[in-house]
Formats: sequence, structure tokens, C-alpha cells
Amino acid sequence: MLDLENYKPKKSFNQNHLLCLQDYSKDEIYQILSLALKLKDMQQMNMPHPFLKGKTLAMIFTKSSTRTRVSFEVGIHQLGGHGLFLSSDDIQLGRGETIEDTAKVLSRYVDGIMIRTYDQQDVVDLARFSNIPIINGLTDSYHPCQILADLLTIYEAKGRLSNLKLAYIGDGNNVANSLIIGCTKVGMDIAIGCPIGYEPNDQIIAMGIENSKLSDCRITVTNSPIEAIKYADIVYTDVWASMGQEEEEDVRDKAFSSYQVNEELFSLAKPDAIFLHCLPAYRGKEVTSEIIDGPRSFVFDEAENRLHVQKAVMVLLMQERSD
Ligand code: CP
Ligand code: NVA
Repeated sequence: MLDLENYKPKKSFNQNHLLCLQDYSKDEIYQILSLALKLKDMQQMNMPHPFLKGKTLAMIFTKSSTRTRVSFEVGIHQLGGHGLFLSSDDIQLGRGETIEDTAKVLSRYVDGIMIRTYDQQDVVDLARFSNIPIINGLTDSYHPCQILADLLTIYEAKGRLSNLKLAYIGDGNNVANSLIIGCTKVGMDIAIGCPIGYEPNDQIIAMGIENSKLSDCRITVTNSPIEAIKYADIVYTDVWASMGQEEEEDVRDKAFSSYQVNEELFSLAKPDAIFLHCLPAYRGKEVTSEIIDGPRSFVFDEAENRLHVQKAVMVLLMQERSD
């Protein structure tokens, strides 16, 4: 039985960045979740926890954000550090300065960088040219911080992470990709139900299959939302048009119309299934109000957990280590 509150790591945490959850072992994911639970307790008991006193986190955004921006800024503050919001409109990166120069310069001033941008390669390059931790706050390919918060929320609701099935209904996007990786790392069955042409790419599915062999779980990709949701313990959806796909919205609304998570579809999941959504949500599109605002929805716990898991990630990556 997984006891994250008292989790004893098998190895010491040995990561320099959080670029993609595929780089992390199950043990490292558990270490993050375990620390997140401790930090959440301390926060709720008003116990100061300045583990990153005097440290500065630069937060680069080339896309909009509510949760990521606020939870990182509040999180570093609660850890005794300082967050620096850098919109790409305001820094020279937005005017063509290279990632390489940006990485080298910021490494001289700050202790870590969180970046939200389009191309995953930019995040990889930032890590390559900096000598401080880089945290991926969402790219077109991945959203690792979101999935850590999702796993924590599932653990709190269900008391375990394996012997569960998560059904993701919708677009095979960044969130779906990271869910495939996160679930198959921890041994949770995952079924993706998406329209033809909107499946996650083959490389991600291949990673999921490899992970699932090690963690003993199942990954299914189907074009039938009914098939995907059957026997699910967790039902998850996300927007049909992600940031950067605004012009495809009308086409996507048509393609996804039978993939809405509504009472009829949700009733095919297990009777005690919970609903998750990374937010922002569009009621009447990917989900109805009766589901997202209903008693089985954990979306605001999930949003809160962004704060706690990201604080754990920052502590593990940015605190001085003896190694
Ligand atoms: N879920 C999420 O990342 O939300 P934001 O886009 O508001 O940061
Ligand atoms: N798939 C969405 C997630 C937003 C948090 C997007 O990339 O816009």
C-alpha cells in the first residue's frame, strides 16, 4: 500500500531540471508528492517553511496563465524566496535574443527558471545553456507540473495511485501527453478517448507502452469515448483548442462534439469516479456545468495542489545539495 506521507526514497533525488516527467523515475515522482504533502500540512498549520530563503525564481511566460503564474509566485514567496515575472513581451527574448544568451545571463542573476512557452526544444535548450534548474511550466508538448498536481489529487481522493483507471476524453494534447507519461510511470491504467486525427503522437504512446511494461499497467487509445470511460475511477478532460490553436476552434468544436463530458457519458464510469480538469474550462464545450460544478468534481483541489507540488519541485531542485 502506497503511504506517501511516510515515503522512504529508494535513492536520493538526483535531478537538475523538470523538463518532462519521462526523465523521472517512479521513486522521484513519489518523493515530490511526499514532500508536497508535508509542505501542504505546514502551510495549513501556518508553520513557516523558508527552505529557499533568499533564492530567486525567474518565471518566463510567452503564453497566458492564471494558475501557473500565481502558484509559482506565491509558492516561492512561501518558501522565503522571490519570484520574478518575465513576460516575453518585456524581455529581449521576445525581440529575438537567443535562448542561449538568455540562459547564460539569467544564470548569473537567479537560482532557477520556470518557463511556459510553445516549443519544448526551447525549454531543453534553456536547460542546456544554463547552470541553474529549469522547470517546464507548459509547452505545446508537455505539462509536467499539472500532472504532478493531478497525481497528488488522485492520491488524496483515492488513497492510492495504482489499481486505478484514468480516462482522458478529448484532445491528444500537452496535458494528455504528460498524463500518459505520469500515469504509466506510477502504474495507473490510462485510456485516451479522442476523435480520429487528434490522438497523441506515436512517440508518446510508445513511451507510455514502455513505461507500462515496467509499472504493470495498461494504456489504451481509442476513438470511442464510451470505450475509454468504462470502469474509469478518474475522468479527465481539457480544452478542445489549446493556446496557439485559437484559429482551429470552429473545426475542433465540430470534431469533438461527441466527446463532451456530460452526465450521460460520466454515468458510464465507476459509480465513485471523480472528475478532473487542468483548467481553464469552457462549460458547455468539453464539460457541462453539472459535472465540473458537481459533487464528484475535484478541480479546485487539483488547482490548489499545483501550489504544493511546485513548492516541492522547487525545494528538491533549488535547495543546496551536498552532492
Ligand atoms: N492549468 C494551468 O496550467 O492553468 P494556467 O494556464 O492558468 O496556468
Ligand atoms: N492544453 C491546454 C492546457 C492549459 C493549461 C493548453 O495548452 O492551452
